[in-house]
Amino acid sequence: MKITPLCNVFGKCGGCKFQDIEYSAQIAMKRNDIYELLNRTGISFSKEKIKIYFKNEYYYRNRMDFIISLDGCGLREKGKFYKIINFNKCYIAADRINELLQEINGWIKKDIQKEEIFDIKKKTGILRYSVIRTGIFTGDTLITFILNKDAEKEKIDKIIEKIKLFTEKTKALKVLYGFVRHNTDVSITDEFVILKGNEFIKERLANLNYYYHSQGFFQSNSGVAIDMIFYIKEKIKEKYDLLFDMFGGVGTFGIFMSEYAKDVIIFDNNKYAEICANKNIEINNKTNIKFIKQDVLNIENLLPEVKGRKSIYIIDPPRAGLHKKAIKFILETLPEKIFYISCNPVKFIEDYKNIDKKYDIVDFALFDMFPQTPHIESVAELVKI
Ligand SMILES: C[S@@+](CC[C@H](N)C(=O)[O-])C[C@H]1O[C@@H](n2cnc3c(N)ncnc32)[C@H](O)[C@@H]1O
Repeated sequence: MKITPLCNVFGKCGGCKFQDIEYSAQIAMKRNDIYELLNRTGISFSKEKIKIYFKNEYYYRNRMDFIISLDGCGLREKGKFYKIINFNKCYIAADRINELLQEINGWIKKDIQKEEIFDIKKKTGILRYSVIRTGIFTGDTLITFILNKDAEKEKIDKIIEKIKLFTEKTKALKVLYGFVRHNTDVSITDEFVILKGNEFIKERLANLNYYYHSQGFFQSNSGVAIDMIFYIKEKIKEKYDLLFDMFGGVGTFGIFMSEYAKDVIIFDNNKYAEICANKNIEINNKTNIKFIKQDVLNIENLLPEVKGRKSIYIIDPPRAGLHKKAIKFILETLPEKIFYISCNPVKFIEDYKNIDKKYDIVDFALFDMFPQTPHIESVAELVKI
């Protein structure tokens, strides 16, 4: 069912593609697409059995990476890398992000000169991104300004002075700036400076507190992340010897489920995930959880710690899916149950095909983390045959 989109840059901005489709129809479409994909690839699963969880269709994102242009912050025009579409309100971003977006837009218009803005084609200028993050359930707010490291030092210093003045006035609780090279296009950095507060964002998911790093990963829709946590939690019916949270990040899942295992291992290769997961383990008073910082390429180092134990795995890989070493590890350790979380259903199916002689899919649920966009997150419950 077609509707009138709320956003006046709909159709131009590359951010939302589905705003002209009634939300109930978006949900039905996503469910149908996944049903067809599963069945087309030989995984027979009835449509009725595919559950779908959803919450707010607008104002749900806790993070926006806005590109800075002369007319303020914006996102790329659909299909055009070099063109930025500007706005004062993004309908999928949390209200607090929109408030800060308006503050930054006002500041750019008043205080920033054309040559101070990064030119995407020429790769000159300084101000590149403003990344705004918020704790949906805590009210925490953090802005990181991303600057071109290769610009002239004097010009960079001038911009930093302007950011300092902005920092004195903004409602944001935390402000950072950081540097990236002119020939890369990333909006996170290890080279950052804190101007206000600290570099962590605080979020609360149900009854637990989490810190995540301004330059690291966290689920972008905190409300739906809670649904996902409870979906998994309610399906763990017994106690295991080991819960292995593979690609566990800051411990979002492992910490929540820790009561279901004697020991919990959170495994991730990111240094900020390590800092935050250890902090989260401590503030939530968990004593049976260990974070192991290691790349999946070396996952076999964990075999002695894992093999032979009655275990349950929560696996939440990046978009690229599972490296063959992770598949080998699963087949060598054979956990009783796996919850495979995926933001890329095609990859999930490919990975599942590598272990389908040993595991059945007993349940499959979709989580609409990204309403108004084609993206979907899924959780498959796999049980050892
Ligand atoms: C989709 S995120 C999931 C994070 C976590 N489950 C959560 O909910 O916050 C994927 C995680 O995989 C980690 N990762 C990416 N590549 C990796 C690798 N080669 N080895 C180990 N971890 C990796 C990232 O640091 C990130 O935390």
